[in-house]
Amino acid sequence: MTSIKLTVNGEKFEEQIDNRLLLVDFLRDNLSLTGTHVGCTYEGVCGACTIHLDGDAVKSCMLLAVQADGHNITTVEGLSADGGLSDLQQAFNDEHGLQCGYCTPGILMNMADFLRENPNPNDEQIRHGLIGNLCRCTGYVHIVRAVKKAAKMLRDNEPEVRV
Ligand code: FES
Ligand code: FES
Repeated sequence: MTSIKLTVNGEKFEEQIDNRLLLVDFLRDNLSLTGTHVGCTYEGVCGACTIHLDGDAVKSCMLLAVQADGHNITTVEGLSADGGLSDLQQAFNDEHGLQCGYCTPGILMNMADFLRENPNPNDEQIRHGLIGNLCRCTGYVHIVRAVKKAAKMLRDNEPEVRV
């Protein structure tokens, strides 16, 4: 067992955990943050478990929870600071960027990071950015449309950026 301290969605936690516990299981089982999904039995291919580690999108099934010690984590539950929808979430809603929604938290977390780096992406750049996220039911046309809409909303709202 190891003691870790970390910040998740702005809240500080100190927990005793098994050294082999994966970060995705720590978030889901220890902190009940079940918006972070497991879609590929921890193989790193589906992207449903994507979160932010110190602001960068990472697949939380590829990390041990002990590796998050001292770091700042954001999950999909922390994407919007005020409890409403962020611009990115609103755009997915407006453009029908989801069907069952299982892949959506991971896509949102990945695209939130992507849009910070790419404020005015074209379709090809968005599709490239989505390579690590599998959606099994919508296809990607509406997802790309939603990301494009979110990019415009964010540009229009600057400097009050809410990815
Ligand atoms: Fe992490 Fe699929 S559960 S990539
Ligand atoms: Fe169902 Fe993507 S919306 S897997």
